[in-house]
Amino acid sequence: MRNVDANTLTNAVIRSFDGAADPRLREIIASLVSHLHDFAREVKLTPEEWQAGIAFMHHAAKITNESRSEFVLTSDVLGLSSLVDLIASSGGTERSALGPFHAEGSPLLAVGGDLKKDNDGEAMLVQGRVLDSAGRPVARAQLDFWQAAINGKYWQQDPEQSPDNLRFRMITGDDGEYAFTTVRPAPYTVPYDGPVGDLLRAGGRHAWRPAHFHFIVSAPGHHALTTEVFFADDPYIDEDAVFGVRESLLTQITSDNDASLAQKHGLNTPYPSVRFDFRLAAATPARG
Ligand code: BEZ
Ligand code: FE
Repeated sequence: MRNVDANTLTNAVIRSFDGAADPRLREIIASLVSHLHDFAREVKLTPEEWQAGIAFMHHAAKITNESRSEFVLTSDVLGLSSLVDLIASSGGTERSALGPFHAEGSPLLAVGGDLKKDNDGEAMLVQGRVLDSAGRPVARAQLDFWQAAINGKYWQQDPEQSPDNLRFRMITGDDGEYAFTTVRPAPYTVPYDGPVGDLLRAGGRHAWRPAHFHFIVSAPGHHALTTEVFFADDPYIDEDAVFGVRESLLTQITSDNDASLAQKHGLNTPYPSVRFDFRLAAATPARG
């Protein structure tokens, strides 16, 4: 292997993994090495440029901690997280970003419950159903929900918020219905005080995400679904910094006047309202 050149090197590196016991690992590494080397050859990557790339990773490692991963953010702003979601979509509602702010163990909220509590902002009603791929209600599905407050911050980023603020788990009834009141979310920026922020600025990009709700919807016998719900009129809907928006995940906020619903949920009429139905794909295809 002492006579490698810029072309034969790639195959030598790939062959060096031939002893890997896991065939999937061999496949992934071979493709990764092949594409990385092609990339370096194509742009004629210089030693100084690659050192800058390594410095980016060092900086990312330095500011990564339990509640903030600059590596996940790098994957997000390069569209790789979104691409992996798109590849994994298995029918049903499309997948979208998990992001770094999901936390296990959210408090249980009954169907119809209130999440807004004393949060500032406009109260809104959110409701819909969890359905299977044939459009039948999924009984006792679990929704795991989280969102940012009106100041654009999740509880992990804001000492003023309690750790249980603006997140819940909810179990649907036999009709698959869910409903809750919350505060209308606002667009916010992903963290841009690290190397990813430098990259965005150098690329002439901004750090904004359109307003959204996060959901993980799960039920026995179905693929768990990690997704987001957006609002069609959001100013950043076509320029999400992490490429999570899908046409099928857009909702329209309507101004509703249903007096009995308003009374039931403690809202004034008219009140903003959105509906979104989730479709879960079966974990194992039904046998015909
Ligand atoms: C989020 O939506 O919470 C998020 C997603 C990607 C990066 C940062 C935040
Ligand atoms: Fe988010």
